[in-house]
Amino acid sequence: MARLLLTGGAGFIGSHTAVVLQQAGHQLVVLDSFSNSSPEALRRVEALTGQSIDVVTGDLRDPNAVERALAHGVDAVVHFAGLKAVGESVEKPLLYWDVNLTGSRVLLEAMAAAGCRTLVFSSSATVYGIPDHVPIPEAAPVQPNNPYGRTKAAVEQMLADVAASEPGWRVASLRYFNPVGAHPSGQIGEDPLGIPNNLFPFVSQVAVGQRPHLKVFGSDWPTPDGTGVRDYIHVMDLAEGHRAALEVLLDSADQQLTLNLGSGQGHSVLKVVQAFEKASGRPVPYELVARRPGDAASTVADPALAKELLGWSTRRGLEECCRDGWAWQQANPSGYR
Ligand code: NAD
Ligand code: WQD
Repeated sequence: MARLLLTGGAGFIGSHTAVVLQQAGHQLVVLDSFSNSSPEALRRVEALTGQSIDVVTGDLRDPNAVERALAHGVDAVVHFAGLKAVGESVEKPLLYWDVNLTGSRVLLEAMAAAGCRTLVFSSSATVYGIPDHVPIPEAAPVQPNNPYGRTKAAVEQMLADVAASEPGWRVASLRYFNPVGAHPSGQIGEDPLGIPNNLFPFVSQVAVGQRPHLKVFGSDWPTPDGTGVRDYIHVMDLAEGHRAALEVLLDSADQQLTLNLGSGQGHSVLKVVQAFEKASGRPVPYELVARRPGDAASTVADPALAKELLGWSTRRGLEECCRDGWAWQQANPSGYR
């Protein structure tokens, strides 16, 4: 049993990981500003696990808030907090550099001062930009093509520099592919504010009747059906990947890991639409429109290294992603509101 701090633990990935970590016997402290989440998510995690969470409401960039969170006697940190919308990062690059970079720096300083040197960081497949080849191994070039991705690549670099500067650091940067789905209970899930940027929440809002149709961004990509191909990973598989990474770190001496968390399977936009229609029994009307600037034709993980080093691989497929995402959407058509 360890005492773990989850920054951004009320968010989509943090709340699902909280369930898995509590069920594995760990005690949790969450630091969250609730800028993109609701305290209700944490109440539901507590209801699912029957265990309480210590919550510190505050901003990651505020050293006092981080210090307060670490004062709970934390053995390791899972660092989810940050901003994640690619389009917004193009419009507000300084905000992204501030929250994602400054926030991570403040966290690392406070961790060093508190003598806590074990960290799992939410990185992203977005650091690969437009990949030269798929599936993408961790050794592929890091060439992000938007400010959000550049902040993720910069934090990875900052972590590597810190880990190299003194002994005792145990750090894992986990490069998530496309996290989707929800807890199978339908109690917690993804709750985007406003119009979703990402395919899955958009499709589920079309299926539930909140939006008239999906716009499919590009039907002339060099893929089997012409639409973009992605590696969708069920959020519960992703949550289990964090548990595996933490347990490996907590069991090792100095350690620096950079790992893809993906399934290794690619699915096109039209395949997702069909799978969601099947899971929901509802039509998902769509219109084929122009490509979205900055998109890649295909991004699929090579997940072999995570399997080798963590003994972890995904267990759930596209069908479960759609089934669980739909259960959440149906039970909570307005999210946590
Ligand atoms: P999310 O927005 O649901 O969760 C992020 C959480 O951080 C929210 O609870 C938010 O309120 C909190 N937060 C934001 N800024 C904060 C600040 N300054 N101080 C304290 N708390 C703050 O996002 P998510 O999808 O759960 O993503 C979690 C992490 O994973 C992020 O770092 C994201 O960049 C990364 N990631 C996400 C995806 C994805 O597609 N969802 C893919 C790859 C990587
Ligand atoms: C998936 C596919 C779109 C919406 C983004 C970020 C990435 C990571 C995950 C955080 C693509 C197509 C989408 C729509 C569509 N996040 N699409 N109509 O772009 O792979 O990754 O989220 O780290 O950084 O870039 O995910 O869900 O936006 O798109 O046709 O309304 O669906 O073109 O082929 P993406 P996505």
